[in-house]
Amino acid sequence: MWKSTLLATVLAAISGTQAQHVHLQIPEVAQDVHSMLQKFNQYTDYNGPSSTYWQHPSPKPKPHKMNNPHACDYWMEDIKHQGIAAFNSDPSGYQVFRNVKDFGAKGDGVTDDAPAINAAISSGGRCAPGSCGSSTTTPAVVYFPPGVYAVNSSIIDYYYTQIIGNPNCLPTIRPFPLFQGGLGVIDANPYQPGGVLGFGATNVFFRQLRNFIIDLTLVPHTSSITGVHWPTAQATSIQNVQFKMSSAPGTQHQGIFIESGSGGFMTDLTFDGGLNGAAFGNQQFTMRGFTFRNCVTAISQIWDWGWTYQGISIDNCSVGLDMSSGGPSAQSVGSVVFIDSTISNTPVGIKTAYGPNSQPPAAGSLILENVDFNNVQIAVQGANGVTALQGNQHVAAWGEGHSYTPTGPNNFQGTITPVNRPASLLQGGGRYYTRSKPQYEDYRKQDFVSARQRGATGDGRTDDTAALQKAIDFAAFKNRILFLDHGDYIVTSTINIPAGSRIVGESYSVILSQGAFFNDMSNPKPVVQIGRRGETGSVELSDFIVSTQGQQEGATLIEYNLESSAGSPSGLWDVHVRVGGFAGSNLQYAQCPSRPGTTITSSNLKQSCIAAYMGLHITSSASGLYLENTWFWTADHDIEDPGLRQITIYAGRGLLDQSTAGTIWMYGTSVEHFTLYQYQFSNAKNVFAGQIQTETPYYQPNPSAPLPFPYVAALNDPKFPDKTATDGSLVIPDANAWGLRIVASSAIYVYGAGLYSFFNNYSTMCSNQGGGEICQNSILDIEKSSSSDITVYNLNTVGTHYMLEINGQVSALYSQNLDGFVDTIALFRTA
Ligand SMILES: *[C@@H]1O[C@H](CO)[C@@H](O)[C@H](O)[C@H]1NC(C)=O
Ligand SMILES: *[C@@H]1O[C@H](CO)[C@@H](O)[C@H](O)[C@H]1NC(C)=O
Ligand SMILES: *[C@@H]1O[C@H](CO)[C@@H](O)[C@H](O)[C@H]1NC(C)=O
Repeated sequence: MWKSTLLATVLAAISGTQAQHVHLQIPEVAQDVHSMLQKFNQYTDYNGPSSTYWQHPSPKPKPHKMNNPHACDYWMEDIKHQGIAAFNSDPSGYQVFRNVKDFGAKGDGVTDDAPAINAAISSGGRCAPGSCGSSTTTPAVVYFPPGVYAVNSSIIDYYYTQIIGNPNCLPTIRPFPLFQGGLGVIDANPYQPGGVLGFGATNVFFRQLRNFIIDLTLVPHTSSITGVHWPTAQATSIQNVQFKMSSAPGTQHQGIFIESGSGGFMTDLTFDGGLNGAAFGNQQFTMRGFTFRNCVTAISQIWDWGWTYQGISIDNCSVGLDMSSGGPSAQSVGSVVFIDSTISNTPVGIKTAYGPNSQPPAAGSLILENVDFNNVQIAVQGANGVTALQGNQHVAAWGEGHSYTPTGPNNFQGTITPVNRPASLLQGGGRYYTRSKPQYEDYRKQDFVSARQRGATGDGRTDDTAALQKAIDFAAFKNRILFLDHGDYIVTSTINIPAGSRIVGESYSVILSQGAFFNDMSNPKPVVQIGRRGETGSVELSDFIVSTQGQQEGATLIEYNLESSAGSPSGLWDVHVRVGGFAGSNLQYAQCPSRPGTTITSSNLKQSCIAAYMGLHITSSASGLYLENTWFWTADHDIEDPGLRQITIYAGRGLLDQSTAGTIWMYGTSVEHFTLYQYQFSNAKNVFAGQIQTETPYYQPNPSAPLPFPYVAALNDPKFPDKTATDGSLVIPDANAWGLRIVASSAIYVYGAGLYSFFNNYSTMCSNQGGGEICQNSILDIEKSSSSDITVYNLNTVGTHYMLEINGQVSALYSQNLDGFVDTIALFRTA
């Protein structure tokens, strides 16, 4: 999360747009063995299959949409709404689900619906921009039925909000010609008097916007209006939104504007017209499945550290991606990965300020892979208008920046060898497989099972283990989708999710572990176990969080065991792990305040704040897992605390992938503040990952890793010789968590990585280039004697003296790769 000092001051007036139907890659799946099980149509105390081969059944198609009064029906509107905010001060009175029409919105295209929509968002004493830092106790789903919602002022988003339109008949939000709003028809983080954002942009977690048409075309094209203002951080997404803007000469419209934050994920957006389709400035983001038509500039990249674009289509614009911000003497864009994309009928595909003498030296790093330029004269333009790469060609792979292959640095600009992509990770056209979060548009309310209806309370007090397990098994057995009504579901032993399960949360329902079962470090247990060892099949899970309450020394929050076929992998979308720092965790400021003034040893370390053993474990026999927008967060601060004060929570390991068959996708994942490492690949292979993002725990090296987690050989834990390194007069602590560690693994392909170490002992003194980047000695560890075929594009680091460590040898001194606040290697590859 950390508050960037690089808050861009940005005033660009931007616009763009025109849209088309978004193509969602949801595979049709077969219904095979499952139908055999259908004969047991009487549910008893069935405990779920242990090793059956299930695949997701095909939806029961609704009647044809034409002339059908039910064509727009959507289960989310129709089901009984019984989510509760367990840790709200008034759980029985607080309303989670809000239909804007219940608050007086007309959706008739003529009434100003902004006041009613804003009432739907704000009612219930929710966490408002400007007066509340953050909160998890006032969650909301704000639902829009089909209609045209005219607005004369901004829709103001609150904390912890899912704003969801009907995906079968997208609602339109349309500002009146004399729209009097602020920055954004939907302003997700409005500026306050005094010029500060309503929420700290790097602390805006847990929110979504999906299924809308945002139509700016009634507003004069000369007006600089913005569709969505979205300075946000992790666990946020925008999905399936069409931005319609003027394409008249001189248009000042823009679709999305982001100037700060630490994102984030977006998918399936279209932009028609506009001066800029979108303007983006943020530490990092993963964006895929965007279509831009008839914009002046499709994407204006204002600033970044790292960014991953996949599946972008740009047509009939003047410039596709403009990353020349700041110019050659002060480039503000650190790095961009741009893959599996097409730019057509656009004179300049990608505009950069990169050149032989551009500054900072490693800024403007760019990697292209599998990109087509059709009727594009200049594919990549460099500083001073120089053509760096001709257009009108298919580009297998090309890049510019610094390379280590694996030795370096070399300055390069030109063709590079593309990743030798394993077929199992691909879909048509050689592109990496993608699959958007299922919204179950074609299902009806009777296809859903409510966890609360089945007896799980979600009240944050009752032991829901048995009821939740039964509800999960019942839904899987009945071939229905489990709706996890908003709530906090206390579990005191492992919840097993069998193959064939589909589970959807509501504004991030929480499965919260508690008690002795999860509190033995020598006998760790999964809180949520997806499939048993050796079980085949797949699952679809979305929109919920797995957490722990109090001391849970042996809790592995999610264990993934299923062997899923490459054609039908399991998917986790917006499924997050959150350890500490929220109401109900008993791991807040009161219990686990940061203690920088105390030297922490094994004898005075707060054992009660050891809250997890591991975030996600992908076990050795597991395969076929698609992760998208998943955040594994050990809290560094208390979300409920008005001052967002820092806390010290110990959680052992972040994401461990030991899958020997692999076939794992990680789109927009991040792992933060685990003690030993954030990502570790061990005896693993066949991984697509981009953009990955990590942070080292803020307390380290007080105490140093591995305290309080003893070495476990079976997990291939890193060893931390307790030493310091020196470089001249600089003293650098070695025993800090790895951001990324790769051991005995192959075919690991990282398309963008931000590995950050901002703090030592809660001080940021160590993380600046002038001071030598001395928070830790190195952050990316490759044990090359047993690892091969590793590619990392755009490795961005903060606070680490050396960027690489291969077989115990450090290399890539930060000062060889300066890039503003970060240090950047565009291309790292093992021999
Ligand atoms: C919108 O606001 C403008 C400016 O205040 C006003 O002139 C116009 O009448 C309003 N339109 C509607 C429909 O409320
Ligand atoms: C291309 O975009 C311009 C606006 O910039 C528009 O006027 C023109 O109609 C578009 N051409 C096509 C073929 O869509
Ligand atoms: C941590 O920082 C504090 C100042 O905030 C200092 O007093 C203390 O000595 C430091 N402790 C260690 C172990 O570095």
